[in-house]
Amino acid sequence: MTSTTLALHEIHDGGGVPLVLLHGFPLDHRMWTPLAAHLPPGIRALALDLPGAGHSPLGSVAPSLDAAAAAVHRTLVGAGVANGIVVGMSMGGYVALALAERHPGFVDGLALVDTKASADSEEARTRRLKIAHEVEMNQTVDPVLAMPATLLGATSLQRRRPLLTTLETWVRGQSPAGVAWAQRAMADRPDRTHVLQQFDGPVSVVVGAEDAITPPAEAEHMERAARDAALTVVPGAGHASPVEDPSAVAAALALLHRRVVRHR
Ligand code: MLT
Repeated sequence: MTSTTLALHEIHDGGGVPLVLLHGFPLDHRMWTPLAAHLPPGIRALALDLPGAGHSPLGSVAPSLDAAAAAVHRTLVGAGVANGIVVGMSMGGYVALALAERHPGFVDGLALVDTKASADSEEARTRRLKIAHEVEMNQTVDPVLAMPATLLGATSLQRRRPLLTTLETWVRGQSPAGVAWAQRAMADRPDRTHVLQQFDGPVSVVVGAEDAITPPAEAEHMERAARDAALTVVPGAGHASPVEDPSAVAAALALLHRRVVRHR
């Protein structure tokens, strides 16, 4: 993947420092489209498809979030974007932390949404590798089709039921090879709490109050680790808070944008 570039989607017009939006697993850039409608005018937002997701090629590099971060950096620099506010949801947050570690000069601010800085437990790692194997062996994303119901919080499952179908459609659109690659890359990731401790720009930590995958305790851990962090807990949302309550998450990102502009 050394020369692979990723699919880049400008989903909100504006100038100045852009928001760089990195999606969760097993999704693609489309998860940010509801949020774009709630961004204030003038904030540019660029959403990427991570390697093997959406419209992005996988290339031939071994699975790793560092490789994903390198591809994100290469794509943006190639598109003339020299710096940005990097926003990562869940897997996207793992990539955002890898990017902040590898290219700190690129990252003016960080938003970590429904994600965590810690590594997988041995049990979680084993589960991921098993799923990667099944997906590849049977050439189907069926083993991750149950995920959408776990991404949504209890409130969304009751009151925003159509979101389940939307998420299922996005998951069905992914390739087995991309899903297996991402699972292996996530299984391999280290704890990156130290990246937050060293990062000197503004940080926004956002979490759905009903997030059962990366729960509020993980968000509080990241808030404590960062030097300049603001925590937003989104009521009535689960692990997919940007999809469940896009206006609340857009407001947190708009606030982070103002903090970054003041900080520069
Ligand atoms: C995600 O939403 O990206 C996944 O839940 C991340 C993970 O499996 O750790």
